[in-house]
Amino acid sequence: MKTLVGHQIQSSEKVQSILTDLVSEVAKLNSQLHGIHPANPDFQEAAKQKMDAISASRGRPLHYTYIGTGAGRGPYVELEDGSVKLDLINGIGIHLMGHAHPRVMAAAVRGSLADIVTQGNLQPNNEYRLFTQKIVELAGRKSRMKHAWLSTCGTMANENALKISRQKNSPARLVLGFKDAFAGRSTMMAEVTDNPAYRQGLPEYNEVLRIPFYDKKDPQSGDKTLRALKEYVANNEKNISVFGFEPMLGEGGYQAAPREFFIPLLDFCKSKGIAIWADEVQTFSRTGEYFAYETLDIGQYVDICSIAKTAQVGATIYTEEYNPKPGLIAGTFSGSTPSLAAGLEILEMLSEGYLGPQGRIQDIHQRFIGGLNLLNQSSCKGNASDAGGMGLMVAFTPFDGKKESTNSFLNKLFANGVIGFPCGKDPVRARFLIPAIIQDQDINIALKLIEKTLLEGV
Ligand SMILES: Cc1ncc(COP(=O)(O)O)c(C=O)c1O
Repeated sequence: MKTLVGHQIQSSEKVQSILTDLVSEVAKLNSQLHGIHPANPDFQEAAKQKMDAISASRGRPLHYTYIGTGAGRGPYVELEDGSVKLDLINGIGIHLMGHAHPRVMAAAVRGSLADIVTQGNLQPNNEYRLFTQKIVELAGRKSRMKHAWLSTCGTMANENALKISRQKNSPARLVLGFKDAFAGRSTMMAEVTDNPAYRQGLPEYNEVLRIPFYDKKDPQSGDKTLRALKEYVANNEKNISVFGFEPMLGEGGYQAAPREFFIPLLDFCKSKGIAIWADEVQTFSRTGEYFAYETLDIGQYVDICSIAKTAQVGATIYTEEYNPKPGLIAGTFSGSTPSLAAGLEILEMLSEGYLGPQGRIQDIHQRFIGGLNLLNQSSCKGNASDAGGMGLMVAFTPFDGKKESTNSFLNKLFANGVIGFPCGKDPVRARFLIPAIIQDQDINIALKLIEKTLLEGV
């Protein structure tokens, strides 16, 4: 039988051998990068001009003096000023397998050989099929979810999640969410996000009801949240469409909550026919399982789940019951072919020793948190407090946790070669989205530089 041309391209030995050579040549060049390196004065002026150009075109400077050259190696990344940084924020959590991982790169290059750069919901290629099948298979193991719809980012995956729940539970319109939640930056997701600074000047839609997240310092925390939830439900009978939540607050401060906190909330919502939507845009593939709802063992409650970031593409996953009517969710783009191919590869790689209680993700978590606690108790004398998080999401409170102190710490840490980012409001914490491929020696380097920076003072 004749082989289709597209399949010939995929299976061509010649194409495969060029691809292998190409990726190993790039890996050879990247192997010149050996750990952290300060900026090189020879490149600084040109780098400054490039930074200024970005500021001018977008009307606002970059947060850090960061423009990547396109080279990197594992957790290390080369910047235009000639510096090499230990990247523990990864574009806010995109590069789960670090920079220039040969397998991720090979998958992306394979994707780029397709006839189209970007796939869509009208005319998908096989990468769309494979990615969707894979995510449905993974979700179906520990939940009732059966279908997935792709989109290009977390915000759009969340918009689809909200529309799906509202349509099913129409005419209910209100959304239950946690205080300090983050859900993205569209008009509605800025409303779900509990940060007035992110919606300055926008109208109030008053469609979100907020209940407090878990407070580990308060033994009554669970009861208080449940009481608030019941009160809202009593006052808005039949008008609450969905309970949307991050399994661990991300932007809100990297505070995790135990299963026992969630169960009564979920049981109550279920009893009232309120949809359960887990926003796993940040937590997906980082908690030691594919989904944080697996880590928390709450999968059977979840009706809808949104993911993005590490998956390289957005997706909304849902049960048969919540399968929307045609026309409700669509969109031109459903991710680029390289993104879909790379995302699929990352999902495969994760199954190779990263997951489970004995997997590498839990090991990295223990080492990082253990190291931070040790610093706090020894040389740093209480200035690295409250280390916590889940899996590859780790944060601590530097100094007094005031915004100025944490930002000053993070800027100095960047100058010393490690990239982190703030989260939370009071306190403002230093957070890290650690790449899964990090080696123990790199964790030790990070901890040494965190210590050095803390000892420099505020
Ligand atoms: C929990 C959560 N939801 C939604 C989003 C929005 O995703 P995106 O920036 O891809 O639109 C983010 C991004 O940080 C997030 O952390």
